[in-house]
Amino acid sequence: MADFEPRRIIVTGGAGFIGSNFVHWVVDNQPNVHVTVLDKLTYAGNLDNLSGIPEDRMTFVKGDICDAELVDALFADTDAVVHFAAESHNDNSIADPEPFVRTNVEGTFTLLEAARKHGVRFHHISTDEVYGDLALDDPARFTEETPYHPSSPYSSTKASSDLLVRAWFRTYGVAATISNCSNNYGPRQHIEKFIPRQITNILSGIRPKLYGDGLNVRDWIHTEDHSSAVWAILTKGRMGETYLIGADGERNNIDVLRAILEEMGQGPDDFDWVRDRPGHDRRYAIDSTKLRRELGWMPAHTDFAEGLRQTIAWYRANPQWWQGVKEATEAKYAAHGQ
Ligand code: NAD
Ligand code: DAU
Repeated sequence: MADFEPRRIIVTGGAGFIGSNFVHWVVDNQPNVHVTVLDKLTYAGNLDNLSGIPEDRMTFVKGDICDAELVDALFADTDAVVHFAAESHNDNSIADPEPFVRTNVEGTFTLLEAARKHGVRFHHISTDEVYGDLALDDPARFTEETPYHPSSPYSSTKASSDLLVRAWFRTYGVAATISNCSNNYGPRQHIEKFIPRQITNILSGIRPKLYGDGLNVRDWIHTEDHSSAVWAILTKGRMGETYLIGADGERNNIDVLRAILEEMGQGPDDFDWVRDRPGHDRRYAIDSTKLRRELGWMPAHTDFAEGLRQTIAWYRANPQWWQGVKEATEAKYAAHGQ
C-alpha cells in the first residue's frame, strides 16, 4: 500500500516536551507539511518550545482539546491529527487526578468525535505504563499483546483513552493508530520529571532526590527517536494497529542518577533518599520488534551517555527556560516529602 502523505497536520500538546520536539522534527524533516499546534498552555506548555519555527510552517492555536466547537472547526481543515496533549506526570495524578480524567479521557473523546465527523486520520500517543509493571528479574518485555494493567491515575486515564481509540476504529471506522512509548529524555522536558529535576537541582545547588530504593527500571529513549517512530507509524502504519516504541534503554534510577552526578562533577552519593511514590511501578521494558520489522524503524540515539551529556548541556545553556519555575516545582515536591 502507498504511504499516507499528509500535507496539513494538527499536533495537540505541541507546546509540551515531546509534542514540541515532534513539531521541530516535522518542520526539519518534512518540508511539505504544515503543522497546526493546538495547546492549552497548561503549566507544562511553553510557547518558547516552538521558537525558531518559520511562520509559514506552523500555526499556533491556544485552546483546550475538550472544547468541541474549536476542535470541530480545526478538524474541518486538516488531513491528520497527532494527539500528544495530556496531563503527563504520575506524581501530579496521585495528588489530584481530576484534570487527568478530563484531559486524557474526555479530551481524547472530543477529538475522536471530530475525527469521525470529518474523516480525519488519527494517531494517538500513549505510554508503556498502560501495561503496568514487570518484576526486575522477569525476562519478559511488553509487547502489543500484553494485557492492560495500569497502576496510577495517570496510566489508567491513558489506558482509557487507548480503549476509546480502539472502539472508535472498530465501531465507527475512524482511521486510527496507537503508539505506546517508553520514557523519553532530551531537551525541553519539564523539570518535574526525573532527569531534568536532578540536572536542575545540581545546577541550583540542591541535592538530587531518589525515590524508594532507587532500583526501579525505566526504558529510556531519546525524544527525537520517538518523533521518527511516530512519523513512520502515521505514514506507513496499518489502521487499527498498536505499535510499541522503545530503544532497548533499560536502566535503573540509581544508575541514571549516578551518571548525571559523574557528568556534572559530583560524588556518587551526593543525593538524598526521599519518600517513595505510592504504587510505584517497578520496571518498564519495551519489545519494539513489530515497529522495526514492519515499518523498518530504527533508533538513531543509541548512546545514552552521549544523549545525557547533550541534555545536561541544554539545561546548562538555557537557565531562563527553567529557573522561573524551579522554586515552585521543588516546593510542591517538598510538601509531599519528596
Ligand atoms: P507534557 O506534560 O510535557 O506536555 C503536555 C502538553 O499538553 C502541554 O503543552 C500542555 O499545555 C498540553 N495540554 C494539557 N492539557 C491540555 C488540554 N486540555 N488541551 C490542550 N492542550 C493540553 O507531556 P509530554 O511528556 O510531552 O507527553 C506528551 C504525550 O506523550 C502524552 O500523551 C504522554 O502521555 C505521552 N508519553 C510521554 C512519555 C514521557 O516519557 N514523557 C512517554 C510515553 C508517552
Ligand atoms: O513510561 C512512560 C512514562 O514515563 C510516561 O507515560 C510519563 O508521561 C512520563 O512522565 C514517564 O513516567 P515516569 O513516572 O516513569 O517518569 P518520572 O520522570 O516521573 O520518573 C522516572 C523514575 O524516577 C520513576 O521510577 C520515579 C523516579 N523518580 C522521579 C522523580 C521525579 C525519582 O527517583 N526521583 C524524582 O525526583
